[in-house]
Amino acid sequence: MPEQNTKGLLKAIHSTRKESCGHEEKEDDSSTFMRESRVEEAGDSVSRKPLVVCLDIGTTYTGYAYSFIKKPDEITVRKWASEGTMLSPKAPSSVLLTPELSFHSFGYDAERKFSDLHAKNDHKSWNFVNGFKMVLNDKKKFDANVLNVLDIQNHYVPASAVFTGVIRYLKNDLMEQLTRRGYHLDESNIQFVVTVPAIWSEAAKQAMTDFSVMAGIQKENLMIAYEPEVAALHCVSMPASQVTVRTRDNIALMFKPGCSFLVLDLGGGTTDITVQKVEKDGKLSQLRKASGGNWGGNCVNNLFFQDLTKSLGQKVFQKFITTNAGDYFYLKNQFEVAKRNFRNDQEIVYLHIPSSLKKITKEVNGKKIGDIFNELETREKVYYSDGKLNYASEYFRKFFSSSVQSIVDEVKRVLKSKRCSEVEYILMVGGFSESEIVRDGIKMAFPEIRVINPEDASLSVLKGGVLFGHDPDTVRFRVCPQSYGMAMHEYFNPKKHDLSKSCKVGNTQFAVGCFEKIFEKDEIVEVGQQKIVRVAEDFTGQPEKMRTQNKEIEMYASAAKDPKFISDPGCTLQGIIVVSPPGGRWPDKMKGKITFEVTVTGINVSFMDRNTQSTSGGEIKFSEPKPQAGENPLNRSFRKDDL
Ligand SMILES: Nc1ncnc2c1ncn2[C@@H]1O[C@H](COP(=O)(O)OP(=O)(O)OP(=O)(O)O)[C@@H](O)[C@H]1O
Ligand SMILES: [Mg+2]
Repeated sequence: MPEQNTKGLLKAIHSTRKESCGHEEKEDDSSTFMRESRVEEAGDSVSRKPLVVCLDIGTTYTGYAYSFIKKPDEITVRKWASEGTMLSPKAPSSVLLTPELSFHSFGYDAERKFSDLHAKNDHKSWNFVNGFKMVLNDKKKFDANVLNVLDIQNHYVPASAVFTGVIRYLKNDLMEQLTRRGYHLDESNIQFVVTVPAIWSEAAKQAMTDFSVMAGIQKENLMIAYEPEVAALHCVSMPASQVTVRTRDNIALMFKPGCSFLVLDLGGGTTDITVQKVEKDGKLSQLRKASGGNWGGNCVNNLFFQDLTKSLGQKVFQKFITTNAGDYFYLKNQFEVAKRNFRNDQEIVYLHIPSSLKKITKEVNGKKIGDIFNELETREKVYYSDGKLNYASEYFRKFFSSSVQSIVDEVKRVLKSKRCSEVEYILMVGGFSESEIVRDGIKMAFPEIRVINPEDASLSVLKGGVLFGHDPDTVRFRVCPQSYGMAMHEYFNPKKHDLSKSCKVGNTQFAVGCFEKIFEKDEIVEVGQQKIVRVAEDFTGQPEKMRTQNKEIEMYASAAKDPKFISDPGCTLQGIIVVSPPGGRWPDKMKGKITFEVTVTGINVSFMDRNTQSTSGGEIKFSEPKPQAGENPLNRSFRKDDL
């Protein structure tokens, strides 16, 4: 299975479940399927909608943009009112939930409302969350329905309430904006694109799909897109008027057929790296599975606040946040501005300290804030004067160091890997790539590679997502990050099989828990490609319930290229492939084939009865598979066809 565009093919939920069942004897109520794999060609079948909207839910900033099919490049970015008349193209990823956990507000509105509640001391039972996207980073196995995020007051709130609340809010806001502009579009005419980091696990990508559907976006109108990939698309399509001649020339060279380039997407939460090659027809092929980590621009903010907390004390800072939200947001925003404006040749950076923080410091420590900084060893580099905290440039720069170093190390690792030796360009996108410190760090570390910093880097994901929605075929080949397969069983053959991995059902001995590979690790998979698994099953004498219910087959992933059993080390249960009976009822002697088709937005699964040629739907489900105690181990696998 390709790593990308799988609609989160593999929702990793469980750790490996060992299915080896020795010699147990069980009633034969199992399904018996047979298989045969082969690859077929197929076209892509994405219908184009009149309007495409991209929702970019970022770790730090969130927004949406859209354009109409007639002029896809004319992208409207929704602007958000911050302070006064200031408008910004993304709003902070902040959400306010009521005491009853209903969605109340988003972005600047959420910050304003929470500050007001604070001012009236009415805030305690409310829930204010930001940076919630991080909860899905590094998550390989989880149940999205029970996932929680921590709010600013250390309340646990359900992640689903936060994510669905934001997505629903953005969708409703879009509809209002369209109406205001005189467009009366039915939602079925809108293609929604939701962007996710390419490095996310399949489980996390699937969770984003689920949250979007829960928020009211119809599944058939939804596409999940990969942030670095769509950002690259945006760069190649930027109108000449919006870029410098140098950027335009560089991008033109980079997008020449045969050229390989690395996309370095530096967001607030994540660094997301993909490597692409431009094919002869201008389409992109992924050369390596996505990689990266949690080294976005937020690391800088975190280090700054950790440093401040260390100087003033945990108690002071906690009290400041919980009793003066408005001032905390003010300080945060000031830091954000200082961080964005920070230049290599700058001598000093200063921040106004809110009077509430000074007061709390005095109350808790019995000392004035200026005296505290004066007593520290770092007093030459960080000092307080006239209500401002002043940082010497070399001290402030340290807040950037660890994230820049981690990014450089990861890029070095990627460039050393096979298939990436010919990378000629690094394309830097995402908000954090607008930092001069970061850009210079990358340029210095890779003097032999041309580094491109396009204008509008912080909006490249948002705008690229819109372009991708209009023309999703642009990315054609993808690299499979793991091997994926489904559980199979076959008639036991003592010459071939290990008795310990077998079980007896009725009078028949089966080898169980075989890993039937569908996609191999590092395999390059093309959009439209099909993999077919031939199956057969004898339903004769099966209870009526079994004849009409869906067949569920376990799906596994492994980092090994060729796992033999689902119980091999490193194999993990990912989800369930659900196949519906054709015509609502399984025939007595069913012979069928399951087709897995790689689409631009995921994997389509379908089933065909080979005798009657009737077809039925299928899907891959990543909600937590719930094995029943004492369940027949053959129920969730196919039997291999020896024909
Ligand atoms: N000019 C700038 N200089 C330094 N940092 C910047 C600049 N502009 C934006 N950033 C930082 O970039 C980050 C936001 O970038 P972006 O909007 O791409 O991220 P995001 O979408 O919120 O996060 P992610 O994509 O990781 O989920 C923030 O950490 C912000 O401080
Ligand atoms: Mg982003």
